[in-house]
Amino acid sequence: MKGKFPVEKFEKVRTPFYYYDTDLLRQTLSAINSETGKYNDFYVHYAIKANANPKVLKIISQSGLGADCVSGGEIQRCLETGFSPKKIVYAGVGKADWEINLGLDKNIFCFNVESVAELEVINELAAKKGKVARVCFRINPDVGAHTNAKITTGLAENKFGIAMRDMEPAIAEAARMENIKFVGLHFHIGSQILDMGDFSALCNRINNILDELDKKHIKVENINVGGGLGIDYQHPNRMPIPDFEAYFSTYARHLKLRPGQKLHFELGRSVVGQMGSLITRCLYVKQGTAKQFAIVDAGMSDLIRPALYQAYHKIENITSDEPLSTYDVVGPICESSDVFAKAIDINKTHRGDLLAIRSAGAYGEIMASQYNCRKLPEGYITEDLVENE
Ligand code: LLP
Repeated sequence: MKGKFPVEKFEKVRTPFYYYDTDLLRQTLSAINSETGKYNDFYVHYAIKANANPKVLKIISQSGLGADCVSGGEIQRCLETGFSPKKIVYAGVGKADWEINLGLDKNIFCFNVESVAELEVINELAAKKGKVARVCFRINPDVGAHTNAKITTGLAENKFGIAMRDMEPAIAEAARMENIKFVGLHFHIGSQILDMGDFSALCNRINNILDELDKKHIKVENINVGGGLGIDYQHPNRMPIPDFEAYFSTYARHLKLRPGQKLHFELGRSVVGQMGSLITRCLYVKQGTAKQFAIVDAGMSDLIRPALYQAYHKIENITSDEPLSTYDVVGPICESSDVFAKAIDINKTHRGDLLAIRSAGAYGEIMASQYNCRKLPEGYITEDLVENE
């Protein structure tokens, strides 16, 4: 066994595949639960878009977390893997009728509504079923986050949410609708956020909004601040469990919750990011004119983050102990962006060596495609490999 990886067990599995370290996942979940346990009325809904592997979801649902869904497919997956519908929140700018009907049939906790047009459709569909839909409004807070432009969501220019000036008319509209119950406000400013100042900026914005609503005697039962806590991609071993203490205490200190108000979070990446690695085998080492390439059997179809966001994932050769050498690590896909890393130093690599592409538990397997008619990668949890013995 090299490092934390059961390399001998990996040798028996067809590559490429995702490996999920369930010890780390369980430790991460218990860190979340012990931090939120310090506060009254803090509720975490795991953002299942980050990783919807059923075995991973079962472990998360068993820990007691709720789920944040963005599609009917995600709601179905959550129900199959043990999440209580009472802990499901459902966001998304484009909810189809069948998806809204599914949420109504299953009595989910709430719909995070992103437009008045959507509110009208939910009201109609709920009326047909003789139900009352619980609704939070997703407000675009126009708060920037210091992260990749492709994953900020809370700016005025983004497609998400209802503009602040339209919030009160939307709440008034909801109050007039018979089959709608307004239960709160929802926000999300972006992803891979490491600066707690971004979250306190969101708190300040929410405090102002609540002051305004107080003046109009509008009661807000639930505040949902979305997700966004980042992880350390550079050093996956340094702090594999993100600093949940700093994260939750930022909200506890800065947000002025009203008595009885409940605070909801939608964490994705920080729950599952570090427990996952993409395990791939070196097919060929090629000496180019200017560079040395390690050509591996995983490609951008398996992990698209480097190609799509120029995201950094640390790569380790988990077979070789030889001195370091410099490689571009590339996949077999017919695109020049099919590159996992350029000019990185890893142990001297040979055909057949296994490489671990780290911090790939979030937005990895779930974003895989069949481009070039490739098979989708399998996802194995620690227990799968032990049972295979
Ligand atoms: N809530 C809402 C409304 C969201 O849009 C998202 C992520 C989350 C929660 C969870 O955010 P997290 O805690 O994971 O940061 N594919 C990109 C990330 C896209 C994030 C989309 N929304 C990536 O690979 O970096």
